[in-house]
Amino acid sequence: MTQAASARIVGTGMSVPERVMTNEDFARLVETSDDWIVQRTGMRERRIAEHDQATSDLAVEASREALRDAGLQADQVDLVVCATITPDNVLPATACWIQDRLGCAHAAAYDLTAACCGNIYALAQARANILAGQARTVLVVAAETLSKITDYTDRSSCVLFGDGAGASVVQASDEPGTGILYTTLYADGSGGEMMLLPAGGSRRPPSHQTIEDRGHYMQIRGREVFRFAVLKMEELIEECLKACRLTADQVRLVVPHQVNTRIIDAATSRMGFPPEKVFLNIEKYGNTGGASCAMAYHEARRQGLLGPGDVAILVAFGGGLTWAAAVIKH
Ligand code: ACO
Repeated sequence: MTQAASARIVGTGMSVPERVMTNEDFARLVETSDDWIVQRTGMRERRIAEHDQATSDLAVEASREALRDAGLQADQVDLVVCATITPDNVLPATACWIQDRLGCAHAAAYDLTAACCGNIYALAQARANILAGQARTVLVVAAETLSKITDYTDRSSCVLFGDGAGASVVQASDEPGTGILYTTLYADGSGGEMMLLPAGGSRRPPSHQTIEDRGHYMQIRGREVFRFAVLKMEELIEECLKACRLTADQVRLVVPHQVNTRIIDAATSRMGFPPEKVFLNIEKYGNTGGASCAMAYHEARRQGLLGPGDVAILVAFGGGLTWAAAVIKH
């Protein structure tokens, strides 16, 4: 393989389940209201997978759209990276189901777990593989069916989450100074319990007790996450601007993890970005975990908000704890 000068995103796609769950639907399930959810989170509705609809079902649809958008065939893909915390199975990797169903006959495939940072971590892997000459075309698909691990008796967390998938085809380019210009990834496992799914792994294998304890659902400490998220989002944007020698004026769009409009507003306004330079689709989909940034980036591209040469900053934080950002030039 010849050495690539850069790694570019040449196609994107997304997929969400058909079923819509509104704030009013939640008000019938738990003690909450449309007003509370809109004011505290910015969310109005989310998409919820059917009982028999798995993460790979959404991932395959999103990936097909991304490959079409890139004008590529599945057998041209060298590597499939699926970012998810809701795999179809623990074994095999969801990326392998996706690889088979798409017909990526020559691709390696693996899953990556970085919660809400999944898409950005996977884009960083794609770029690194391409720049190291290990792959020329990488399919990154971030996909979640968070509804399957959401506790619908806990009003403080259940209203937040939705299902969806976002895919990006990343390809080697001979043109320097374009595509994914910069990525930065962080983790701090000491905060692992802030967003935790307690049972079902080797620490607490599934049992009658774990089911009785509701141990197979996410537990989050929302208030603590809120503070962490605002701080990290500001630090990440500042780092990206400095590393790429950019000012806020030179950035066309910030594409943040769709976690909460109040978190996003607080961080981006302090960093000098007016609301029209911050992409939001949280109203329609809620927080779709690792898929959220990928879906938002796809919709921003589709809406023509990113033209040739425009720079976008993707920024996310989530369970792990993890936080990450990417600077992308179109
Ligand atoms: N409806 C009505 N009232 C509610 C609801 C609800 N759905 N949820 C909580 N409340 C109540 C609380 O019980 C509390 O009542 P109290 O004052 O009587 O105790 C009150 O509302 C305020 O609660 P706070 O937790 O202070 O509310 P806050 O403004 O912080 O909003 C929220 C809560 C939305 C969870 C916010 O903290 C947040 O967005 N945090 C980060 C989100 C997060 O953790 N996302 C998950 C990331 S992990 C991942 O993405 C996979």
